[in-house]
This record gives sequence, structure tokens and C-alpha cells, in this order.
Amino acid sequence: MKYRTLGKTGLKVAEIGIGTWQLAGDPNYWVDSNLNESLKSLHRYTELGGNFIDTAWIYGYDEKDGRRRSHELIGKFLKESGQRNKLIIASKVPPKNMHWPAQPEVPISEVFPDNWIIKCVDDSLKDLGIDHLDLMQFHVWQDSFVKEDGWKNIIRKLTRDGKVSYWGISVNDYQPENCLKALDTGLISAVQFIFNIFHQKPAERLLPYAQSNNIGLIARVPLDEGGLTGKFDTQTRFATGDFRQQYFNPERLRELVIRTDALKKLLGNEAGGLVDLALRYLLSFKEVSTIIPGMRKVSYVDANTSASDAERLPARLLEELKSQTWERNFYS
Ligand SMILES: NC(=O)c1ccc[n+]([C@@H]2O[C@H](COP(=O)([O-])OP(=O)(O)OC[C@H]3O[C@@H](n4cnc5c(N)ncnc54)[C@H](OP(=O)(O)O)[C@@H]3O)[C@@H](O)[C@H]2O)c1
Repeated sequence: MKYRTLGKTGLKVAEIGIGTWQLAGDPNYWVDSNLNESLKSLHRYTELGGNFIDTAWIYGYDEKDGRRRSHELIGKFLKESGQRNKLIIASKVPPKNMHWPAQPEVPISEVFPDNWIIKCVDDSLKDLGIDHLDLMQFHVWQDSFVKEDGWKNIIRKLTRDGKVSYWGISVNDYQPENCLKALDTGLISAVQFIFNIFHQKPAERLLPYAQSNNIGLIARVPLDEGGLTGKFDTQTRFATGDFRQQYFNPERLRELVIRTDALKKLLGNEAGGLVDLALRYLLSFKEVSTIIPGMRKVSYVDANTSASDAERLPARLLEELKSQTWERNFYS
């Protein structure tokens, strides 16, 4: 595993981080996960040199019992492994109105009121069994929030109190530039954003901005929710409760397969398969600090972390990938 610097935080993060959205299931998005396998995946990830864990207050949140099962699982792992001090833990404050993405006309008082930010930090520390978060991210964003001062004062206070070391923004889906004004305040050290072979737009403005201003970059959804693994075909059916029933409905699945077949033809001897290609594509950008594939299985951890050990992709292949974009928003 190789490491990169997470922007001005100075933290050395593994090139491959672990995304944990699906590790503890989620009543609204994912079918129940196998918690034992998820726990093993976390252990395997750190055995292989991984040190960056991305979670969120909302992952695995069950409104029936109020439990936040991704946090709980990671808290259990931290306790079992005794490795908290070697790891960088990132979580997210959800919007209080529980609306993704943030809408331009909705004021910050409905999304991130001061006491909500404090509550979500305190909940997260308790769930995870830790005394500080290395990175706390806003789980949605609108740059119009920048004109308000409440959130700025609260994050300064929580930092002074030692509860959060650094702050980040997890931008709305496919809106990589809807955070640049917030970055200008100097209060935000890292941005999490969708970046993959299909969605290359972040390379246009966000990456150069981050490079010039020393902002850490966390690339999420690197495998297009599994689409870029090449493992789906037109017969693939997702389990009831898996949001990919809609995300990859039959028509989209047909289009996906045409596109992944085209990518497979580009592989040659230079990439080990589509997963390898997709992750090494992102690692070819020096501005990216870490990539966080969702890894609920040990086999995924083994396969995905190996991308960091491989050579960089050749320039010819990177050039060919530029024409493989497929801009769309299947979440909406
Ligand atoms: N708004 C936000 O802040 C936001 C939104 C989305 C995600 N995230 C974060 O970003 C992370 C990554 O995004 P994501 O998990 O949604 O999407 P992703 O990483 O693009 O795809 C994850 C899916 O890819 C499959 N997969 C992963 N490695 C594989 C391998 N080696 N071989 C075969 N299949 C493999 C798994 O599919 P199966 O499930 O079919 O096994 C997994 O569920 C999340 O876990 C979360 O931490 C943040």
C-alpha cells in the first residue's frame, strides 16, 4: 500500500481507503450485509496497510431503533483491533432535514443548524468509542451556505474542543464544483466527490483548484456502485431493497454492459481487469489523495488494495479512457 498526503491536514492516507456505506446494511439502500464478513474486511484492510475509514452518521441508520450500525460496526472493529491511533477515521454530519442533495432554495438553518452539527459529532464519537474524529464532513452542501457564519463558528469551536481535527465536504452527487466558495474560507481541508471513468468532470475544475490550494481529495463511487467491475450482465437482478434495482434498471443495465464490454477491449496486458483499471485510472491523478471503494467482502479488499501496489497505467491507455465518459445521474 502506498500513501499520499490528505491536503493541508498533512495526514498520510492510504491510496485505497475503505468505504463503509454497505458494510452494516442499510434499511433504505442495501440488503442486509453479512456483519461477520464486513468485520473481517475491516481487519484485512488494515492488515494490508489500509488506514483510512470513511463512514457516516446515516450509514446503517434505522429510524425504528435509532441505531447507526455502520458506526457501531467500526466502533467494534476499533475496540477489537486496538489500532485506533494508527487509523484515520472520517464520518459525516447528515442534513437535519434528511434531504439529499441539498437544494439551493433551502437555508442552512434547516440543513445544518448549530446544535445539529454538535449533536452529530457527539453521537459519532459515542458510537465509534473514540475521543476525536480525524475528519468530519458535511454530507451535502450548497455554496450559498458560505454567507452564513453559524457553521463556521461551530466548526472552529468543535476543533478547539479537540472533538474534530479537520473538516470536509462530501459534495452533492455530480456537483464537484459546488464547494469552491466554501474552500475559499480556508476552513475546509478535504472534499469527497464522485469520480470514476464514467464521470471525469471533477478533473476540469475541482482537481486544479485542490492542487493550487492544498485540499485533500477523496474519490467516492470509484466503481460506479459495482457497474465498473464488469461483473453485471443484462441478466443481473438485484435483491429487493438494493437501490441498484433502480440505479441499474434493465434499460440502464443494457447500456452499462455495452460500455463495460468496450472497456474490456481496452485492457490489453496492462490492467488486470476492470476493477484494476477503474482504480488505477483514479490513482493516475496526483491530486487525488485516496479512493474509497465500498468493500464489504475480504475478497474485494484483497483485489482493490492491490491497485495501489501496481505500476501507473501507461499514458496511451489513460488517453483512450478520456473518451469513455458516460455523464448521467442515476440517483435522481
Ligand atoms: N454522499 C456521500 O457522501 C456518499 C455517497 C456514496 C458513497 N459514499 C462513500 O463512498 C464509498 C464508495 O462508494 P460506493 O460504495 O457507493 O460505490 P463503489 O465503491 O463504486 O461500489 C461499491 C460496490 O462495488 C462492488 N465491489 C467493490 N469491490 C469489488 C471487487 N473487487 N469485485 C467485485 N465487486 C466489487 C460491491 O458490490 P456488491 O455490493 O454487489 O457486492 C460494492 O457494493 C461508500 O462506501 C461510502 O463510504 C459517500
